[in-house]
Amino acid sequence: MGIIFPMLLSLILKGSAIIIHSPGFWKALKSKLRMFKFLLAMAVPVSSPPSNLLIKLSQRLFDAEAQQSAFVAALTTPQVFPQAILWMRPRPEVVPFALAPALPWQSATIDRLQPDQRPGQHPLHSAGSYYCLDMASVFSAAVFSAIPSPVGLVLDLCAAPGGKSLLAWQHLQPKALWCNEVIRKRVRILIANLKRCGLWDALVFNLDPKAWAEHLPQAASVVIVDAPCSGQSLLAKGDTALGCFHPVTIKKNASRQKRILGQAAQTVAGGGYVAYMTCTFSSEENEQVGAWLLKQFPQFEAVAVPSLADYASPLADFPCYRLWPQSGLGAGGFTALFRNRDAQMNPTTLPESLSTQALRLYS
Ligand SMILES: C[S@@+](CC[C@H](N)C(=O)[O-])C[C@H]1O[C@@H](n2cnc3c(N)ncnc32)[C@H](O)[C@@H]1O
Repeated sequence: MGIIFPMLLSLILKGSAIIIHSPGFWKALKSKLRMFKFLLAMAVPVSSPPSNLLIKLSQRLFDAEAQQSAFVAALTTPQVFPQAILWMRPRPEVVPFALAPALPWQSATIDRLQPDQRPGQHPLHSAGSYYCLDMASVFSAAVFSAIPSPVGLVLDLCAAPGGKSLLAWQHLQPKALWCNEVIRKRVRILIANLKRCGLWDALVFNLDPKAWAEHLPQAASVVIVDAPCSGQSLLAKGDTALGCFHPVTIKKNASRQKRILGQAAQTVAGGGYVAYMTCTFSSEENEQVGAWLLKQFPQFEAVAVPSLADYASPLADFPCYRLWPQSGLGAGGFTALFRNRDAQMNPTTLPESLSTQALRLYS
């Protein structure tokens, strides 16, 4: 975008200077602003030069130079990726959007749209018929297909704004869905999305994940950790992720991810699953976090996901999966599924303090 912003701005300001003293100034300014917004929406993304840290990352991820270049190009030349919609109410016979062909890892309740579609602006969206997702989220949630459903309790530890919770609700048909978001100001959007999509039965919590390991050990059938991460994939769609390739950022995120994943492991019942996913590419935040889990909690095993076989990560010696930004399917990410081989399973009884908090938040 670098050069396009100043060009557009100067175009508009030149015109404004002429009319600034005229009576219709404010009206003209409004129309200029509308034009600015329109031009911005139409602007063709412009490449930015790759940083050394990005180039080094590409060399760590790929042996072949062609793959390194394609990866770097995808993160420095943002593109518009097709969106998906997850139907939360019965899918109409005629879907009011141009559809793209379905991918093998997308479930029947999801439609992939052509890139120019704007599903967030349709009345069916405000009516709660569907939830808009990017395909990278659909990819991450494809690990749910390896979990036999229906399941008991699903606990989503990093839930806002709610995409994985809704995907879990549709894919896993849980007896109960509890959605936890530690950042208070993000709880509001989580609740709004769950309510809009008709999930009145879900409970919402605003707790640090360690509270779950303490209060609900070995009780949940599935724990989802869609972890906070350095967010490198955001660059592929033109968003910013400051310092996302810096070793300090990556290390800080990896430690936080291990902490959350460790707490998730303690909350999962015998025979239950932990789904771990990120939207970043550094192996320190992905494969290495998974390897850490398997070492620290030897009762867990990584589970193969047949629908993702073509996306197996070459950077691990256990099954886990990557979507690359150069695939053109989505901005990219990492996903893995772990199963607790233990037999112990505690009842999912919430302490009263926590259930009261949930009811108060969601009412
Ligand atoms: C990738 S986003 C989750 C997206 C969400 N699962 C979805 O599909 O819509 C990561 C979430 O983790 C939350 N988070 C940040 N720090 C956390 C921590 N220390 N423990 C748990 N969650 C955290 C963030 O607030 C954010 O909502």
